[in-house]
Amino acid sequence: NETVRKVIDAAKNGQMFLLYDSEGREGETDLTVPATSITPADVKWMRKDGGGLICTAIDFRASNNFGLPFMADVLKEASRTNNSLKSIVEQSGDLEYDTRSSFSLWVNHRDTRTGIPDNDRSLTINKLGEAVQKTINGEDFDFGAEFRSPGHVAILKAAEGEVNKRMGQTELSIAIANMSGITPAMVVCEMLDDNNGKALSKDDAMEYARKHNLVFVEGKDILEAYRSWNF
Ligand code: 5RP
Ligand code: ZN
Ligand code: CA
Repeated sequence: NETVRKVIDAAKNGQMFLLYDSEGREGETDLTVPATSITPADVKWMRKDGGGLICTAIDFRASNNFGLPFMADVLKEASRTNNSLKSIVEQSGDLEYDTRSSFSLWVNHRDTRTGIPDNDRSLTINKLGEAVQKTINGEDFDFGAEFRSPGHVAILKAAEGEVNKRMGQTELSIAIANMSGITPAMVVCEMLDDNNGKALSKDDAMEYARKHNLVFVEGKDILEAYRSWNF
């Protein structure tokens, strides 16, 4: 459909777009931009106009190659020797809107100092994009030589099978990247409402997109396009 074509163009051109998951899931809209093209100005844009967490979703092939775990599995493992973690770690059934979160590690690029300024987060995210591209090209990549954890950019691991398995912005954004033929590393940040602190409503997110001349796309359109896509 026309919106999917537009969002693919935006992704190819490294432009910001708005990605809504679905009614009945989170019902949230994320500002979304390819990791390889993010700039410090985009980080500022996301924290000012988005206001949620700035995370980088990556393709499952890359996270497998890097050996990146789900945070929940790290905590489960650690709870074998730390009893208090047992009750804290995410259990199945904990999330109202999905079966599990996609959180992996939080990282900083080793060339950052604190990791939080716009320049630092932009660098960490750009380098994550480069790393994902290298490993997908089949190059050897030593993740720990370039990144340390904890840090200030959350990595989200997309499910294998992408939107056929899970319909969060993690998988939706990676499906868009793979349909666009760009590096499957995408930056997402939830849009919150400055008036009430809640998630920005779908109508207000659509209005924001119109006003700023950005593409607004939703999960069901991506799923439909993805299922008939010729990779
Ligand atoms: C990280 C999140 C966001 O909801 C983000 O959109 C990715 O998660 P999901 O794939 O579960 O929607 O939790 O801030
Ligand atoms: Zn979420
Ligand atoms: Ca989400």
